[in-house]
Amino acid sequence: MEQYLIRGGNSLVGEVEIGGAKNAALPILAASVMTDDTVHIENVPDVRDTNVLMDAMAGIGIIVKKEDRHSVTINASNINNTVVCDDNIKKIRASYYLIGAMLGKYKTAEVTLPGGCDIGCRAIDQHIKGFRALGAEVVLEHGMIRTKAERLVGSHIYMDVVSVGATINVMLAASLAEGKTIIENAAKEPHVVDVANFLNSMGANIKGAGTDVIRIRGVQRLHGTDYAIVPDQIEAGTFMLAAAATKGDVMVKNVIPKHLESISAKLIETGCEVSEHGDQVRVVCSRNLRHTHIKTLPYPGFPTDMQPQITVVLGLAEGTSIVTESIFENRFKYVDELIRMGADIKVEGNTAIIDGVSKYTGAGISVPDLRAGAALVLAALSAEGESVVDNIRYIQRGYEDFDIKLRNLGADIRVVERDTDYRNFKLLTS
Ligand code: UD1
Repeated sequence: MEQYLIRGGNSLVGEVEIGGAKNAALPILAASVMTDDTVHIENVPDVRDTNVLMDAMAGIGIIVKKEDRHSVTINASNINNTVVCDDNIKKIRASYYLIGAMLGKYKTAEVTLPGGCDIGCRAIDQHIKGFRALGAEVVLEHGMIRTKAERLVGSHIYMDVVSVGATINVMLAASLAEGKTIIENAAKEPHVVDVANFLNSMGANIKGAGTDVIRIRGVQRLHGTDYAIVPDQIEAGTFMLAAAATKGDVMVKNVIPKHLESISAKLIETGCEVSEHGDQVRVVCSRNLRHTHIKTLPYPGFPTDMQPQITVVLGLAEGTSIVTESIFENRFKYVDELIRMGADIKVEGNTAIIDGVSKYTGAGISVPDLRAGAALVLAALSAEGESVVDNIRYIQRGYEDFDIKLRNLGADIRVVERDTDYRNFKLLTS
């Protein structure tokens, strides 16, 4: 089992290149099954979640050919099954996008119920409501979600909660339904827009993605396309906050600055300098951090996927900060680990009350989920002394070459195999 060994204290300085967005890549890969033509996708991040999904797709006869590390060609014309119950697929949340995609194309799909990070109750009632509104039967049994329809017919669907997954899933199925679908109270995240752009490039007719109301006029068939995935807003934000946590100076390259505005605004409130240079954002942190308050919200609000990272930064800011998590109810599990590193944080319900400390101290820490894992790495990078970070497989689900990118910025971080390498490390450093 791999771990990170981190010796904290180095300010991160330099440039980092951001990859394609995991949360756009997953539905886009799944949507590739919606045509018999060949689809070519670029800027696919080489992370565990995308690879698990591609393996599961290959498992049902879809030809998935990696052209290079970030480009893939997919052809689903020889699909031999619409049942996906691969053991790995249940570990990733995005497995549910295969339901919307296959239901749209084949009018039937059976997929293992999705897993993903344990950050709270992750209901799928809005996905189901959407599929049923389009005329599908949906049954949950034996750990599977089974859907089928004689025909899918467009409908007017109001989402009771703003859900990225449900918005995308209904958009997938509705693209090949008969007639017009309207999704109200739709999610507006950049990856929702990216999936709509991808489907439109295949011949779909989707308007309004990026607003509250998405209008989809179903088409009879989708065709092949050549598409590049949007840059990852959360990976970019994580490196921006790494600069803040380590009092560094980082140019985050290949980003869409508009997608990062909520993060930039909060960094400026804490006293960092943030400047935009075309498709790059530079974060410089040269003075003491100031406290601020944050509430996570659907886009364009502050992303829940950046909540642990900003909490780590605010843990080092002067004064008392309050972070309110309004999307997932179980997203402060990492705080106990942070307290073991010297943070002064109390969690009451969905609120963290943070009294800033002057420094964290290195410790053995265990990663509870993907984004919290990245956040704990930032804490370890800023800390005095050494940290051993366990369960880094969670981080590898969503960050490509996280340790390498951090090392290129001057971080002292390396991957070791549990126990043996750590003993060697101790010998070398004692
Ligand atoms: C996606 C992202 C995740 C991100 C989240 C919010 C992927 C693979 N994951 O997750 O990284 O944190 O968006 O930006 O893209 N809900 C319901 N019923 C539903 C669906 C959702 O009640 O049918 C609730 C959820 O419990 C949660 C909220 O809606 O409280 C938002 O969830 P949603 O936007 O659907 O998140 P995911 O798509 O699971």
